[in-house]
Amino acid sequence: MLFKSVLVTGGFGFIGANLVRKLLSDGARVRVLDDLSRGDAANLEGLEFDVVIGDVRDPHAVSDAMSGGVEAVIHLAAFGSVTESVGALGDNFDVNVRGTVNLLQEASRRGVKKFIFASSGGAVVGRAPLPVSEDSLPRPVSPYGASKLCGEAYCHAFAGTFALPTVALRFANVYGPFSYRKRGAVTAFIKALLGGHPIVIYGDGSATRDFLFVDDLCQGICAALDTALEPGTVLHLATSVETAIIALADELRAIAGRPCHSIRFEEPRAAELSRNFANFDRARRLLGFVPRTPLTAGLELTWRWFRAHAAAPRLLDEN
Ligand SMILES: NC(=O)c1ccc[n+]([C@@H]2O[C@H](COP(=O)([O-])OP(=O)(O)OC[C@H]3O[C@@H](n4cnc5c(N)ncnc54)[C@H](O)[C@@H]3O)[C@@H](O)[C@H]2O)c1
Repeated sequence: MLFKSVLVTGGFGFIGANLVRKLLSDGARVRVLDDLSRGDAANLEGLEFDVVIGDVRDPHAVSDAMSGGVEAVIHLAAFGSVTESVGALGDNFDVNVRGTVNLLQEASRRGVKKFIFASSGGAVVGRAPLPVSEDSLPRPVSPYGASKLCGEAYCHAFAGTFALPTVALRFANVYGPFSYRKRGAVTAFIKALLGGHPIVIYGDGSATRDFLFVDDLCQGICAALDTALEPGTVLHLATSVETAIIALADELRAIAGRPCHSIRFEEPRAAELSRNFANFDRARRLLGFVPRTPLTAGLELTWRWFRAHAAAPRLLDEN
């Protein structure tokens, strides 16, 4: 591991819980900056790392978090919901844009050697010929996507103006252990299966997504940390596999041993894309990134994790 001291913002969230474990097992010293608005300290219980509880919108918290020789920043903290961003324009903008600029400014001031920004594939690119890639014209459909594109633009500008070595990684639809607070299809369907409720599909089930297992994503993030890249680089971390939501529901019903579990169809939601999957050739070429976990295997691991933790009330109750 190139950098010994890494700040992970949003480390108590779903991806953070998996990434911090990987960074620690790779030998890094980790500090987490999180305001606990969506994350849970219990996700990292028993592990050795530093914590700053604070908001990325607060320059003092950001300065505290970057003090003491942080070499690299992985910026995961975000207002992370496409559908909620429609009704919360100000908060979405403040956290995802102003928060990101605060971090970039502090990182630049302190001479941080690598700044990785968690961006998003489909949300940033919008409706475009598929599969989307780094060459697709970004035209976000949701306020969330617009704020992530804005974050990417600031990363590029800080690379250009202040020579900050930034990388924006556009994540596909990530799933896996610790995702119990997420609102995405995998989490919602598993909760429905465990709770005995109908699976709810918005639309007719033909919408598609590119589902990436969180371990594969974390490999990609760590490869981006360890690889010298041109400042301002943008890369898709995805599988290039297009999966219909109805096929996902069928996979999970089969894994749960309930192939006839009921499905309820509801109206499609505003700001969601009808189809999306991404090409990851550039990440393969520059990082050696290759997702290794087939969807069925990843869903089985996720299902087993949820089943093993189902006794914890927070798992099924919280959103
Ligand atoms: N999960 C996915 O499928 C996916 C896909 C594309 C992009 N992303 C991006 O990856 C990143 C991590 O996603 P996740 O799924 O782990 O989300 P998450 O909601 O599980 O975790 C986000 C964490 O950030 C913290 N946070 C939120 N607002 C904060 C603030 N103002 N200050 C400090 N901390 C704050 C939350 O408490 C939480 O612990 C996000 O930037 C998200 O937009 C995720």
